[in-house]
Amino acid sequence: MENETTAMPRIGDKAPAFKAVTTQGTINFPEQFAGDWVILFSHPADFTPVCTSEFMTFAMMEEKFAAANCKLVGLSIDGLYSHIAWLRTIKEKIEYNGMKDVEVKFPLIEDITMEVANKYGMIQPGESSTKAVRAVFFIDGKSTIRAIIYYPLSLGRNFDELYRALIAMQTANAFSVATPADWNPGDDVIVPTAGSCGSAKERMESKEEMKCYDWFFCTKKLTKETIMEKILKK
Ligand code: BEZ
Repeated sequence: MENETTAMPRIGDKAPAFKAVTTQGTINFPEQFAGDWVILFSHPADFTPVCTSEFMTFAMMEEKFAAANCKLVGLSIDGLYSHIAWLRTIKEKIEYNGMKDVEVKFPLIEDITMEVANKYGMIQPGESSTKAVRAVFFIDGKSTIRAIIYYPLSLGRNFDELYRALIAMQTANAFSVATPADWNPGDDVIVPTAGSCGSAKERMESKEEMKCYDWFFCTKKLTKETIMEKILKK
């Protein structure tokens, strides 16, 4: 409808629901993913080089994300047969950056009508009105959007960063901590800021293994093993 606007979902919102046809059959989103984290991501078009490099990289990392209870779901404004042909080409013909014979096993949504892309604010007309930008939505097991990243068409994503962000958010949940700049598992984590003058004093005098740079900025050790033991699927 002309002039119809859709509010873009934001961090903390419930993931907008949709039913869609994918390369792995029909999906009911986010309902059928409840209990797991899911990364819903868009790419501009099939049979394009940056997208091909991204899909190969993401497919190679799928098991690593699955081990952290996270499923992957892709989307572009292309039809199902284009998706199938492109994924077959990737598997049969493309050898790139040491990767070959790569099978994309996660669902890729066909969204010719742009219904899902519009719901999620993946069409950003200043960049393109016919192609989705490179959007990434991190959605937790309760179907709440926890992080959103947007990249322009020309910029391939860093999938190690997506994994780092996932593990950091899961660590924050599991251990009630926050993670500082450039954090990676094994680095010190941030203890929640003192909420009162009493707790600030207590914290500065605490014998707990904390390092305080000032009353509002304290860190503690949290080993990679402790994190992974709690987060990774047994
Ligand atoms: C690509 O994936 O290579 C691409 C797609 C759309 C615009 C520019 C690059």
